Amino acid sequence: MNFYIMTLFPDMVMSGLRTSILARALGNGYINIEAVNIRDYAGNKHNKVDDYTYGGGAGMLMQAAPVFDCYNAIVEKIKSRNSDANPRVVYVTPQGSVFNQNMTREFSKEEDIIFLCGHYEGIDERVLEEIVTDYVSIGDYVLTGGELPAMVMIDAISRLVPGVLNNEESAQTESFDDGLLEYPQYSRPEVWREKRVPKVLLSGNHENVDVWRFEKSLERTKERRPELYDKYVQEHPEQFTGKSLKKRKRILDKIAEAEQT
Ligand code: ADE
Repeated sequence: MNFYIMTLFPDMVMSGLRTSILARALGNGYINIEAVNIRDYAGNKHNKVDDYTYGGGAGMLMQAAPVFDCYNAIVEKIKSRNSDANPRVVYVTPQGSVFNQNMTREFSKEEDIIFLCGHYEGIDERVLEEIVTDYVSIGDYVLTGGELPAMVMIDAISRLVPGVLNNEESAQTESFDDGLLEYPQYSRPEVWREKRVPKVLLSGNHENVDVWRFEKSLERTKERRPELYDKYVQEHPEQFTGKSLKKRKRILDKIAEAEQT
């Protein structure tokens, strides 16, 4: 998958993304990341890309032309590889839809994707209308620029690109896989500051471990993200009625009993 980032701070983006698992994925060619400096398309000798806003008000606005020329250069490059390409352009902005794991899955299917990072007070609306396909925010707070949100999204998308995670990393169940938060996990030692690892995890009984983990996921989601919990209950009524509930309760009672001894 090829990521292109239109930014005024290409070094910031590249240095943040060239570490750890993404560095390995870049090295292995599973992903490719190119930060393109919008300033290179300023078209004036002072390399100026911002100006005052019409109608007054504080701050400067990024102008349409450099952004558009930068976009066109990237599209030309993509089209030289695949003439049918019609890449999505994600403008990272607090005015967008809030990013989530479903979007991550959707974006990870693209061959090419362009992120547009704004600065100052934003970008001239006319170029946004012309090129942007998706407006996406990372949460209801305002950052100084779009680089950190773009890095967050690229990290989350990349780990779903086939090959980026190794077998061990990708086989792990994790939060949001099934709409629930992940259960608590423990490693050695068995006792730390008088806190014991739950006995069921040492029992070797896989069915019991699965039931315990599922229960912990439910409890944790209910406590920390009640809106996700309600959605899960609505979408999985079979887990909360009849046979499967009875069986689970029976196993959980046994686990609780064993924990006391
Ligand atoms: N730019 C500034 N704040 C942002 C946010 N919360 N999400 C995406 N882009 C942003």
